[in-house]
Amino acid sequence: MKAIVINASPRKNWNTAELIKSAKKGAESAGAETEYFDLYDLSFRGCMSCLACKRKGNEPCRCYWNDDLPPLIEKILNANTLLIGSPIYFGEPTAQFRALLERLLFCVLSYDTRSSAFKGKLNIGLIYTMNAPRETYENIYLEKFKFHEHSLVRLLNGEVRSLASCDTLQVPDYSKYNMAAFSEEHKRKVHDEVFPQDLQNAYKLGAELSRI
Ligand SMILES: Cc1cc2nc3c(=O)[nH]c(=O)nc-3n(C[C@H](O)[C@H](O)[C@H](O)COP(=O)(O)O)c2cc1C
Repeated sequence: MKAIVINASPRKNWNTAELIKSAKKGAESAGAETEYFDLYDLSFRGCMSCLACKRKGNEPCRCYWNDDLPPLIEKILNANTLLIGSPIYFGEPTAQFRALLERLLFCVLSYDTRSSAFKGKLNIGLIYTMNAPRETYENIYLEKFKFHEHSLVRLLNGEVRSLASCDTLQVPDYSKYNMAAFSEEHKRKVHDEVFPQDLQNAYKLGAELSRI
């Protein structure tokens, strides 16, 4: 059992990283061997539309663009579980998250059958972190993010589950920033009372998706 764990936040020790590391521990508790990546350490772009993955004679399910991503895509497609965390930037997961998805999903999509060329089964856990309160996540974001989740289920054949950590603490000391729209008192309360539950839920997510 192998789990690939990815932090798609540029910040290596903040909310997303903490949660995804907790999911990693959960996967390990279920017996998975894990490998962790900070996505922003890799140099890569979104899909360059070279179409090499569709070229006759070339293997499908392989990205041919020569940057840091193909080795990671190969590891993901050989794993049983993918755990990936991303902050929400302007209502969407980060640009790097999206770039990874473009490359991963396009190389498994068959233009012969309009379905997946991937014969394996990859369970996927998505962890989103955001400033927005839970109501905004449930009323607006949840529906939007289902689009990515649907593509992941359709093309990677496994189970996809998601978890949101809302109203996150964005900086250690709000008094040092122009952030008057946010109440530090409220943010700290959520961080002290709700974030520990989010960490536990992330642990459970990693464990459950690695057991299936
Ligand atoms: C460029 C940028 C855009 C953001 N846009 C949103 C947004 O649209 N909605 C939201 O809820 N939070 C937004 N945030 C806040 C982050 O999603 C939130 O602080 C997140 O928990 C950061 O994750 P990290 O602590 O792992 O870096 C934004 C933050 C940045 C830096």
